[in-house]
Amino acid sequence: MLDVEAVRRHMGDAWAGAELRALSSVTSTSDVAWAWAEAGCAEGTAVFAEEQVKGRGRFGRTWHSPRGRGLLVSVVLRPPAEAMAPAHVTALAALAVAEAIGAATGLDALIRWPNDVAIGGRKVAGVLAECRNGRLAPCVVGVGVNVNTRRDEFPDALRASATSLAIEAGRECSREAVAGALLGRLHTCLRDAAEGRWALVADAWRRRASLLGQAVAVHCRGQLHEGRLVALDPLLGIELEGPLGERCRFRAEDTSLILAGGEG
Ligand code: BTN
Repeated sequence: MLDVEAVRRHMGDAWAGAELRALSSVTSTSDVAWAWAEAGCAEGTAVFAEEQVKGRGRFGRTWHSPRGRGLLVSVVLRPPAEAMAPAHVTALAALAVAEAIGAATGLDALIRWPNDVAIGGRKVAGVLAECRNGRLAPCVVGVGVNVNTRRDEFPDALRASATSLAIEAGRECSREAVAGALLGRLHTCLRDAAEGRWALVADAWRRRASLLGQAVAVHCRGQLHEGRLVALDPLLGIELEGPLGERCRFRAEDTSLILAGGEG
């Protein structure tokens, strides 16, 4: 079972009083976090699980993680609506994940807009930020990181496009170290955004964003679009340039997948 006291030691002084709870098996950590959020829990309350039987991703996809191998966590946030929108939350959470992986393991993780984190072009983590009833607060940020998953444990369909920290590092990695660094970075990024320092977060996000200038394919509303990625913004979305120089913009809400040319 994940050791929440060890997680806390890696968090610095982020959300000092908030509850961290490790559970064995849940439908989704985000279901548990929503129940707590709606009962009024403090910001920074986080729920971890060894396994999820209905782990979810964007667009109704399933999140697979073999028992005990991954970091599965959902955090309750209460962002100020006057300073932020849902796109801020997704962007800062993806940044926090990428930075936490770097801090905990030394691996170079990049953000694949809008909500994936990848190493060497393979997905290692996903972020699902959920708001309800048109309100920004409370919101629940769910993060899945493939920490110690072995290659043969990924479903066939994902084996070529997914990786884990252990595969990349060539050794087992500490889920507690990644979790603590993640909550610490999430706290800092959220505070920066809430207190008017979004430019700091956006600059760090851009430095970690991948695929700019590359040939990519994007799935949007059931169609595949190919082109060169010429612009990338954490809030506005992406812009592709087609073969005749025509430009097309895509927003995160409609875009289900972005692949480097030749990938997947
Ligand atoms: C995606 O890649 O589309 C996002 C995946 C998010 C998965 C995490 S695992 C912890 C939390 N609980 C869930 O059911 N989903 C998120």
